[in-house]
Amino acid sequence: MAVPRVARLRADALRAEITRHDALYHVDARPVISDRAYDRLQRELADLEAAHPELATPDSPTRRVGGAPTKRFAPAAHEPPMLSLDNTYSAEEVRAWDERCRKLLPGADFRYVVELKIDGVAVSLTYERGVLVRGATRGDGARGDDITNNIRTIRSLPLRLAGRDLPDRLEVRGEMFLSREAFAAVNRAQEDEGEEPFANPRNSAAGTLKLQDPAAVAARRLDGYIHTLASADGRAWPSHAAALESFGTLGLPVNPHRLLTRTLDEALAFCARWENQREDLPYDIDGMVLKIDDLEHQRRLGATAKSPRYAIAFKFPTPQATTRLREITVQVGRTGVLTPVANLEPVPLGGSTIARATLHNEDEVHRLDARAGDTVRIEKGGEVIPKVVEVVTARRPAGTKPFRMPLHCPACGEPAARARDEVAWRCDNPECPAQVKHRITHFCRRGAMAIDHVGEALVDQLVEARLVRTPADLYTLTGPALAALDRMADKSAENVLAAIAASRRRPLAALVFALGIRHVGVRSAELLAGKFATLDLLMKASAADLEAIHEIGPEVAAAIRAFFRQAPVRAMVARLKTAGVNMKRLEEEEPVSDAFAGKTFVFTGEMETMTRREAEALVRSMGGAAAGAVSPKTTHVVAGPGAGTKLNRARALGLTILDEAAFRKLAGVS
Ligand code: IVH
Repeated sequence: MAVPRVARLRADALRAEITRHDALYHVDARPVISDRAYDRLQRELADLEAAHPELATPDSPTRRVGGAPTKRFAPAAHEPPMLSLDNTYSAEEVRAWDERCRKLLPGADFRYVVELKIDGVAVSLTYERGVLVRGATRGDGARGDDITNNIRTIRSLPLRLAGRDLPDRLEVRGEMFLSREAFAAVNRAQEDEGEEPFANPRNSAAGTLKLQDPAAVAARRLDGYIHTLASADGRAWPSHAAALESFGTLGLPVNPHRLLTRTLDEALAFCARWENQREDLPYDIDGMVLKIDDLEHQRRLGATAKSPRYAIAFKFPTPQATTRLREITVQVGRTGVLTPVANLEPVPLGGSTIARATLHNEDEVHRLDARAGDTVRIEKGGEVIPKVVEVVTARRPAGTKPFRMPLHCPACGEPAARARDEVAWRCDNPECPAQVKHRITHFCRRGAMAIDHVGEALVDQLVEARLVRTPADLYTLTGPALAALDRMADKSAENVLAAIAASRRRPLAALVFALGIRHVGVRSAELLAGKFATLDLLMKASAADLEAIHEIGPEVAAAIRAFFRQAPVRAMVARLKTAGVNMKRLEEEEPVSDAFAGKTFVFTGEMETMTRREAEALVRSMGGAAAGAVSPKTTHVVAGPGAGTKLNRARALGLTILDEAAFRKLAGVS
């Protein structure tokens, strides 16, 4: 069936409009329409594409999310190879680089482009006739991973280039990163799910680009800037600055903070300015990059095996500060690990005031020979927690003593010990108040029992006042006892009690996660609750029962069994049960039949008689799985009005496609 001309025109107009708003929002940070109005445009386009699949082009903005999770990435070859940059740390070294270039091209009239060096992850993007066809990681420089589906989720990168005069083929390279704000959000989400937080934005950007699920990538709000022309067919530029300028008109994000200059002095002054202002940026930079502008000069200068000669990275020293170490204290973590911490005379560093730095473990303190009273140098290299890098022994006062790990836990006074093959000292007392506090905080967190209003400060008080020793004690708290605590008015005591009461109806999976079993995050807790209908059954499960779940390996199974073997844990669970806390799969978690066992459903488009969540719950209740994206594992796709690319992909894979009525019939609901 031919696509009506009006539909084609409207789809083109919508795509152009959405692309323009994407750029306004993500590149210029100057949105001109509301999120709602934007969503309406997206929805209208998705509807049109569903009605006329021929309109669904690979560069359509509806392709931003979705795309099937893949198990492995396909290899992506780099021609020319993705090299790295030579690093320097001083203006003298930069001048020496300039001298070398001038010797190689005597008499050449150089201009320099100076750019920020973002501490992110390098990628290569290829556009054919304006359409993004490939996104790839650097890998070893000659070959990386094809991560096109993940790259498509980065909203500041255009799926289609703007304008008319498009090159037939264009490969550009750039840096993908998470802003500090996006990084903080990722780490909050990691912690809510019981996962380890990332140490710095760079690690989390790299981890994000390698995720197998594009929808998860989209949720993390990566950003990117293009900084290099790799190759172009059908278009040429005389200089790097001109290419960057054009990239901007093509809709590619180019960092606005750059300088084109004829003098090295100005270039160096620009570097110095950014070294001082780096904290004002919303993302981390680790230096500046100086490039010789003329592309013919660049070509003639050539490259060494590792890096091109036309450019050099001028790295900033990692911000350091010197201060006095007042005291080394020892912190107790949720699992009882003792961590030595340097308590410092507060000192400004990298945009914040630092009063504490980690010393990691006993071996590290001894390596540094850090002592109370010492003058120390601390450093913050993009990491969340600063570290002590050096002791200024020349300034050590008389009478200091080498640090010794305490033989008793500083929080509970029970004996602490270091296992033979470990660097960590541990407190093995499960009732240690420090561990108890962590455990209670975890129990209350959002993905667990979701007891809002009970944050760290309140937990500290509850544990110190001996009102709470185990999570079960939360359910015995009374209004007067709470109201007697600091900063606790009657009203807030009421809110706390209401939140605790509501948590009795949390699903089994939330409870399993809330118990804080080692290695059991949100996802494993859901799998466990899917297999074992009650907490009792989970507590009795054998290693074989547990390992029958695909994603649960021997280590996790052993941790679960060891956890429930502890008498205090069993006593606490019994008290939770008496307190009326739900210990069973809730109706919505309950498989009512196994009619859908082994089947995976994907819902796309609108539904009329139920919400998507309800439909997914129904599938699970019949022993099936519900997924967000079409993959080779998908068996059924239920498509309603507005279904877009998922439907097309389902067709391409020859999957069973149902409408809502057919789905209801299959599920036996009338
Ligand atoms: S130019 C031959 N410009 O720094 C490579 N790189 O080792 C040409 N980087 O991972 C790169 N900001 O991705 C260039 N403005 C910028 C940059 C930049 C960050 C990254 C690059 C590479 C590393 C250099």
